[in-house]
Amino acid sequence: MLVAPSILSADFGHLARDVEAICEAGCDLVHVDVMDGHFVPNLTIGPVVVEAVAKAATRPLDIHLMVENNTFFVDLFAPLKPGYISFHIEEEKHPHRLIQKIRNLGIKPAIVLNPHTPPECIEFLLEDLDMVLLMSVNPGFGGQKFIPSVIEKAARLKEMIQKRNPKCLIEVDGGVNDKNVHKLKDAGVDVVVAGSYVFRHESLSRAIESLKV
Ligand code: DX5
Ligand code: ZN
Repeated sequence: MLVAPSILSADFGHLARDVEAICEAGCDLVHVDVMDGHFVPNLTIGPVVVEAVAKAATRPLDIHLMVENNTFFVDLFAPLKPGYISFHIEEEKHPHRLIQKIRNLGIKPAIVLNPHTPPECIEFLLEDLDMVLLMSVNPGFGGQKFIPSVIEKAARLKEMIQKRNPKCLIEVDGGVNDKNVHKLKDAGVDVVVAGSYVFRHESLSRAIESLKV
């Protein structure tokens, strides 16, 4: 399992220190939650702050857009050369076009599904994607309770991925901890995002290690 700590639960007064610490503790990706106050009822960080995160990180950034007007935000963050940019299918009229745009910028494209969104709606996009992110909470806040139906969804998505693009990763985001990570592994999940579990743990390295199942 690859581990992507969400910096939403970091100490924003010491953001660079916390980003360096999760990278030293062995994370695989640094998950950055970008919220615009419209698509979700919360507002987080823009390119000025994410540039500081990119400077401190020694692992690729995994930028999770929770915004209206995805194209505008892709253009805003592309100069920071993140590893992945993911956008919500619920907020995009032309996902195929946006995937190509992200790829042409040299960034791996990913699509995010909210808890209610069936995986079948992206079946014909899978061959163009590097990753699918399944939300296991409603997007907007850290520290929420894990929604267990994501396990069945991941298993269904895995079957589709094996048929259409076996290289595409499955990532799960929200309420992940050392208890539910095993079921996610069994369902075929490749990457977990964890915010509050990692940053509230007494040891960042042990928290990350406990998710690498
Ligand atoms: C929620 C975000 C998550 C969040 C996860 O909208 O996408 O990345 O930070 O936090 P935890 O792990 O605390 O649920
Ligand atoms: Zn996220």
